[in-house]
Amino acid sequence: MKFFVDTADTAEIKELAATGLLDGVTTNPSLVAKSGRQFKEVIAEICSITDGDVSAEVAATDYDTMIKEARELVKIANNVVIKLPLTLDGLKACKTLTGDGHKTNVTLCFSANQALLAAKAGATYISPFIGRLDDIHLDGLELIREIRVIYDNYDFDTQILAASIRTANHVRDCAIIGADVATVPPATLKGLVKHPLTDKGLEAFLADWAKTGQSIL
Ligand code: G3P
Repeated sequence: MKFFVDTADTAEIKELAATGLLDGVTTNPSLVAKSGRQFKEVIAEICSITDGDVSAEVAATDYDTMIKEARELVKIANNVVIKLPLTLDGLKACKTLTGDGHKTNVTLCFSANQALLAAKAGATYISPFIGRLDDIHLDGLELIREIRVIYDNYDFDTQILAASIRTANHVRDCAIIGADVATVPPATLKGLVKHPLTDKGLEAFLADWAKTGQSIL
């Protein structure tokens, strides 16, 4: 499973990219607003930090303007992926942009039927939102399971990009189900490495090593 980080904070992206564990970045208008920066400038900087796919979302809701915005955004860098909303205009734009050879990420997916439509529109990625379904007492992970079955039934190439991830358990369960990508907030991504028994074990090893009085270097 690939790891994308869900943020427009370039300091966080640099830190994670340096670990070698980062495969790409997703942004959305809310994350760009939170960064307080100019959209195109921040996308350009993110694309200079990582060679992985970087999702940049259109702001328009009608087909013609979405296409114009997408054509502007793809000029920023080769690894820009156009993020489009799961609407009829968004799907139509997805079909056009895919036909033109661009990568697309269809976002705000909350049902298996929506994911089926995105695959038929040729989306590179589909973004089902786990946390927001859990927030309204539905089962976000069940949606990932359903999409996995449907995409495998028909050999769709569209990759499942599990989004709105809130916990380490979400990440583990997405990997078990077989999501292709998980896009994870920076703190949750960094938190995946932590285990109290790792910390305790390391502390004991270091204490015992000190008792030997030895040095490797
Ligand atoms: O970028 C889309 C998605 O990951 C947003 O997550 O936490 O705002 O529901 P969240």
